[in-house]
Amino acid sequence: MTASPVVFADRMLSLGLARVSEAAAVASYKLVGRGDEKAADQAAVNAMRDQLNLLDIKGVVVIGEGERDEAPMLYIGEEVGTGNGPEVDIALDPLEGTTLTAKDMPNALTVIALAPRGTMLHAPDVYMEKLAIGPGYPKDVVSLEMSPKARIEALAKARGCKTDDITVCVLERPRHDEMIAEIRSTGAAIRLITDGDVAGVIHTAEAERTGIDMYMGSGGAPEGVLAAAALKCMGGQMWGQLLFRNDDERGRAAKAGITDLNKIYSRDELVTADVIFAATGVTDGSILAGLKHEPGWIEAETLLMRSKSGSVRRITYRNPTDRVNL
Ligand code: FBP
Repeated sequence: MTASPVVFADRMLSLGLARVSEAAAVASYKLVGRGDEKAADQAAVNAMRDQLNLLDIKGVVVIGEGERDEAPMLYIGEEVGTGNGPEVDIALDPLEGTTLTAKDMPNALTVIALAPRGTMLHAPDVYMEKLAIGPGYPKDVVSLEMSPKARIEALAKARGCKTDDITVCVLERPRHDEMIAEIRSTGAAIRLITDGDVAGVIHTAEAERTGIDMYMGSGGAPEGVLAAAALKCMGGQMWGQLLFRNDDERGRAAKAGITDLNKIYSRDELVTADVIFAATGVTDGSILAGLKHEPGWIEAETLLMRSKSGSVRRITYRNPTDRVNL
């Protein structure tokens, strides 16, 4: 007798996931531009957790707000959902871009991904070196082993354009100064972002809309898994390598069950099975509109995607503010 396959009702679960993402965004709307990162994050965390617990899933948070002793809610290992339903892993960032939200700068998002149990890398809270490109290119046309210059030349060749027609998105950090100088030496343009590399990676999957061809540089490893989940739905290639600054960080990896500390993970090694992904715009950005409100009403836009079908939906949610999330 063959074992029955794990049922992952991604079509049914996806709308529920959009609600979770919307709820987190809506909860933070009064905190956009108020200079209080912590309050904005807390509001999003509370709302995301409340909505997640209404979903018929046996969920475990694998990418969350931190270790159990650091985060009272949505900590790594926390069980969420009603307990009735499929065993799933959840990767989330209730507010990706807390500073962007506090300063009302572009591309702050709420983000959540859901996949069958054991299929997303339990990335510790360390940095990850990331490289991403959109769909339509030959497999492995660029790689993390290549220099930034070589990546740009290879991508331009594959696209049939000059290197100065390529735009690369990079987090503006002193640690990226050398890489930025090398990218500039090719004539390529750089879109510097101050935060939010999940959005940075997603930009590559819709290059015509966003003008971004490639993402590179280091950022949070948990955000790397979320970005891989998004690209798995949208198409596109991504690679990530964990970076360790000290023994404490290496210890975090060991605790998460990671033995090969130098491994370069492909997109499908970061997320090994079909996944659903939802992100809601908090502030206006190039992939999603931000929250809009007028007296008595709130509006939010959500990107809802399934890797099995490759479907990408943008859903506009509009609700009277006195009945939000009923
Ligand atoms: P927060 O939302 O937690 O503030 O993270 C924002 C972010 O910009 C991520 O998108 C990115 O991966 C990480 O921080 C980069 O870390 P650092 O600010 O240490 O360079």
